[in-house]
Amino acid sequence: MALKKGQILDLEIAGLVFGGRGLAHVDGLTVFVEGGLPGDRVKARIHRKKRRYAEARAIEVVDASPHRLAAPCRYSDFCGGCTWQSLAYETQLHYKRRHVSEALAHIGGLGSVTVYPTMPSERVFAYRNKMEFTCSDRRWLLPAELGREGVGGDFGLGLHVPGTFYKVLDIESCLLQPSLGDAILDDVRAYIRTSGLPVYGLRSHTGFWRFVMLRHAVAGDRWMVNIVTRASMPRAVQPLADALLQRYPQIVSVVNNVTASKAGVAVGESEALLGGAPVIVETVGGLDFEISANSFFQTNTRGAEKLYRVVKAYAQLSGSETVIDLYCGTGTIALLLAGAAGEVVGIEQVPAAVENARRNARINSISNCRFAAGDAAQVLTGLDVRPQVMVIDPPRAGLHPKVIRRVLALSPARIVYVSCNPATLARDLALLAENYAPKAVQPVDLFPHTHHIESVAQLERKGP
Ligand SMILES: C[S@@+](CC[C@H](N)C(=O)[O-])C[C@H]1O[C@@H](n2cnc3c(N)ncnc32)[C@H](O)[C@@H]1O
Repeated sequence: MALKKGQILDLEIAGLVFGGRGLAHVDGLTVFVEGGLPGDRVKARIHRKKRRYAEARAIEVVDASPHRLAAPCRYSDFCGGCTWQSLAYETQLHYKRRHVSEALAHIGGLGSVTVYPTMPSERVFAYRNKMEFTCSDRRWLLPAELGREGVGGDFGLGLHVPGTFYKVLDIESCLLQPSLGDAILDDVRAYIRTSGLPVYGLRSHTGFWRFVMLRHAVAGDRWMVNIVTRASMPRAVQPLADALLQRYPQIVSVVNNVTASKAGVAVGESEALLGGAPVIVETVGGLDFEISANSFFQTNTRGAEKLYRVVKAYAQLSGSETVIDLYCGTGTIALLLAGAAGEVVGIEQVPAAVENARRNARINSISNCRFAAGDAAQVLTGLDVRPQVMVIDPPRAGLHPKVIRRVLALSPARIVYVSCNPATLARDLALLAENYAPKAVQPVDLFPHTHHIESVAQLERKGP
């Protein structure tokens, strides 16, 4: 049968592919089905047709999978935040492990590596410690809102509709954040709406209000609010900060990041402190960590604690080793390993995160860690250290070939590779495979209801 764009198919969903879409087959052709879960029979409309595959969107669930649940969030069919909310949590964990195994086998040629069952997240809702809400002059209306009086389409503060950069759902509550975040967001929304200043147009690149980022520290239930604007205008943002600080004793920091960049990222070119402290303090593994608005910190605090326990177990430190923590962020892994190592050297590109890391060493009275600021490949080239162990926790893109070469030249006895992207993990393990044997991979779920998965791989040097 020749399939065409716009055609509606009746499909049995056989599995889930990495990225989160359902998998179906029609006459030997693979169809990726948005909104289809394994075991579902759906009607789906094709929106893209290629020679070897088609992409479709489920428009009706004809027979629901036994793994399908009623999603508790009213935005779940429309929001890009968590697309697996209708899938039973056990099934999510099953597929996450499978996606790691499949990536290792198909991309890395490493099908024989042991991949353990996914460690679950302690919390499956209210687990995120950081949320980034986007302002838009184009609000995407839910079907229930269409035509309702007083609901306009010209203002949105919330999360993106999947696959779009300019359509924003105006979110009143997000189940991934602790509920106080909803109240704070609501107050910020009300202020912005009546401020007389326009929200940023994601197509026109004009307007003032850009993002609202909320950070939560589980320790002490503290919050940071980061208001991101296109220009610096203290008279517009200071009254908002003052009102928030007065209303919520849990808010301990309000900052204003300013960015004129057209990129849709909430990182400012400059940052002003509007009230409270410039950082928020989180506790992980018994240590305190100061975190700035723009520093990386794992977004599921309790999940991160589990992840770091696996890292420590895989590092197998005896107390004397020199360790490099490559891509160290605010120094979490370096500082958590310090008590079991001789010396730890952390390397990180974001200056604010390196400052956080240095200060985190001081506030936890740790003296055998030092931190170098700069690009991983460059810093490794100039570094005068012979590590016995390297922990490597890169961004989604994985390791640059130059970094791979430097790691091979440094030749540590053991590598612990922490990854948020099974595809680049598999690619990089294959590039290291001549000298390093992957012993085991442990997936850890930090992102319930999404297809994202964190994994820790333990690699041993081959030969002496
Ligand atoms: C996945 S995070 C890991 C952070 C840390 N290990 C943790 O668990 O909190 C990756 C870190 O790499 C940093 N980074 C990205 N590109 C880099 C580069 N080329 N050189 C050094 N650091 C980089 C990011 O700023 C971020 O802090």
